[in-house]
Parts: sequence; C-alpha cells; structure tokens
Amino acid sequence: MLSQQAVNEINREVNKYPADKKQAALMAALSIAQREIGHLSTEVMDWVAGFLNVPPIRVREVATFYSMYDLEPVGKHKICVCSNVSCMLRGSDEVIQHIENRLGIKVGETTSDGEMTLTEVECLGACGGAPMMQIDDDYHENLTSKRIDAILDQLETTNA
Ligand code: FES
Repeated sequence: MLSQQAVNEINREVNKYPADKKQAALMAALSIAQREIGHLSTEVMDWVAGFLNVPPIRVREVATFYSMYDLEPVGKHKICVCSNVSCMLRGSDEVIQHIENRLGIKVGETTSDGEMTLTEVECLGACGGAPMMQIDDDYHENLTSKRIDAILDQLETTNA
C-alpha cells in the first residue's frame, strides 16, 4: 500500500513510543500516508489501523476530526480559510468570497486544472492574525483582497 520509505518513516514515529503504545503514532502515520497517497481512502485508513493495531473506527474518528486530513482527493494546493470567531469578525466571509470569485470555485471544490482546493476550517490557532488562511504548510495572516491576490499570484507563478 505504501512505499518502503513511508513505512520506514512510520516505523520511526512508532519507535518514539513504548512498544505497547504504538497507537500514539496514529496522527503521524496518517500524515505520512496522506502525503504519499494524496488522501486518506478507506483502504489507506484500514492499512494504518492494521499496521498500528488500532481499531479501524478509531482511525476514522481521528481522520474525520482534524481538517488537515483529506478523505477525498484534493488539488495540488489546499487553501484552508479559517472562519471561526476571530476570523469571522475580521472578515473571513469576504476572504472566502474573494477566493471563490478569483478561482471560480466554491468552498469544498477543486479548480478544473486540479491545482487548488478551497476549504473552510475551524480555528487554526492564529487568531491574532485574523483573518487568516493556511495554504499547504504556510500560514497567511491579516488578509486583505490585495494580499490574497499577491499570495495566489505567487502560487500560480511557482506552478507555471
Ligand atoms: S479564529 Fe481564525 S485562527 Fe483562530
């Protein structure tokens, strides 16, 4: 299911914990699996469950709770706009609207070229920089329409 390199990486995570606490590596294992496969299909989650000797329902609970895990295929870049209280009060609705208009997609959709997926997420712990969004591994704070355009321009240039 996963490459030997990914399995080795998961084993390194597992080895950080006592032998009877393999399940502590669950989140790391899911992240590694998702990075390799692109999303967490039922088959991948079942594989992780078997590898860590964790009930499959437990894996599913974790995978569905955290917004960083994708159960369906997503674009090359994932744009996560926080719409929790601080961000909402500071204009997250406008942020989402601006991105939807620019990309021609709605929240939950992926651009037709498969490059970008737009999602709405709960607090990402950067409330002081509201409104904010996460794109892949980077946080972008104090968003304005101008700033969003600059960030997306940069992303599109990198992809070209
Ligand atoms: S409310 Fe948006 S980062 Fe906390």
